[in-house]
Amino acid sequence: MNALVLGGNGFIGSHLVDRLIAEGHNVRVYDKYEEYFRRPLPGVDYQFGEFGNRGLLADALQEMEIVFHLISTSNPSTSNVDPAFDVQSNVVDSLFLLEKCVEIGTRKIVYVSSGGTVYGSPSILPVLETHPTEPMCSYGISKLTTEKYLALYRLLKRLDYVVIRPSNAYGPRQNPTSIQGAIPVFLSRIARNETIEVWGDGSVIRDYVYVNDLVDGIYRATVQTAPSRIYNFGCGVGLSLHDIVASVRRVVDRDISVLFSEKRVFDVPSIYLDVSRAWNELGWKPMTPIDDGIRQTWQFILSQKEQPDSRYPAEK
Ligand SMILES: NC(=O)c1ccc[n+]([C@@H]2O[C@H](COP(=O)([O-])OP(=O)(O)OC[C@H]3O[C@@H](n4cnc5c(N)ncnc54)[C@H](O)[C@@H]3O)[C@@H](O)[C@H]2O)c1
Repeated sequence: MNALVLGGNGFIGSHLVDRLIAEGHNVRVYDKYEEYFRRPLPGVDYQFGEFGNRGLLADALQEMEIVFHLISTSNPSTSNVDPAFDVQSNVVDSLFLLEKCVEIGTRKIVYVSSGGTVYGSPSILPVLETHPTEPMCSYGISKLTTEKYLALYRLLKRLDYVVIRPSNAYGPRQNPTSIQGAIPVFLSRIARNETIEVWGDGSVIRDYVYVNDLVDGIYRATVQTAPSRIYNFGCGVGLSLHDIVASVRRVVDRDISVLFSEKRVFDVPSIYLDVSRAWNELGWKPMTPIDDGIRQTWQFILSQKEQPDSRYPAEK
C-alpha cells in the first residue's frame, strides 16, 4: 500500500516507518523537520512542511491509500497555555486533512490520539475504551474532538478510520530533552550524572508501553478488519514513578540521586489502560517487560553519548 506518515520523523513515527518498510509498503513522510537521530532512509519519500500548510499537505496526500496522523502541535502541559492555538492547529487543521482525504479517496486514516489524557481522572481502573471521557487539558480535548470528527466523517462521507489511544510510549529515539516521557528524561540525566527530577511524591501511577509494541498495535489496527474504531494500547499495568526509578536502578547499575518537586495540576493520580479489546480483536498484547524496554532505551542513550560531536550515531 501507499502509506503517508504525518509526523513520520518523530519518535513513534520513525518506528512506524521502519515497520511499514519492513512489511514492503511504499512510504511517504510529511513532517516539518528531518529525523533527529538518523539520516534519511533510502526509499522513503520525504516531504517537508507545516501541518497547517494546506498546499503542501494536499500535495503530500496525492495517491496515498492510508494516512497515519501522528502530528500534534502541543503536549499535555503546553496545550493549556494557548488553547485557541491548540484547537486551531490540531482540530481545525485536522478537519482540512479529513476533507482532502475524502476528496482524494483515501482508504483509511489512522489517528494517534491519547490514552493518557482523553479519559481524564478515571473512575474505574484499568480504563476501558468505553470509560467516560473527561479530559483535564486542552491537548486531551483536541485529541477527543478530532476523534469525534473522524466518526462524523465516517458517518457522512464514508471515510474509514481507526483511533489509537496509546499510554506513555517509551524507547529509543524519544527526545530525551523534551518535557514528556519520564523514562528517556531520567535516563539521559543519569547518563550526564545529573539528578533525576520527579514531579510529586513518586506515587503517580502510569502505564508505559514500549514503542515497538505500540507500533505493532498500530500496524495490526491498520491492516486487520476489526469491529471497533478505537483501541487502547498500553501495558495494562500501572507502575508508579518509584517503580520506574527502581527499574532504572536495576538496568543502569549506577548511583542515582532523585529530587522530588511539586506535582503538576493536570497529572491524574493514577491511570492505566485495559488492553483486552486489542487482544480479543487484533490478537495484540504488549511483549516487552519494563526492564527490557528500559535497557534498550538506556543502550540507545549511551550510544548517543559516545558520539558527542555527531548528530547521528555511527553507521552500522
Ligand atoms: N509519546 C507518547 O508517549 C505519546 C502518547 C500518546 C499519544 N502520543 C501521540 O503520538 C503522536 C506522535 O508522538 P511522538 O511521541 O512520536 O511525538 P514527536 O514529537 O516525537 O513526533 C511528532 C512529529 O510531528 C512533527 N510535527 C509537530 N508539529 C508539526 C507541524 N505543525 N507540522 C508538521 N510536523 C509537525 C514533529 O516534527 C515530529 O517529527 C502525537 O500525536 C502524540 O500526541 C504520543
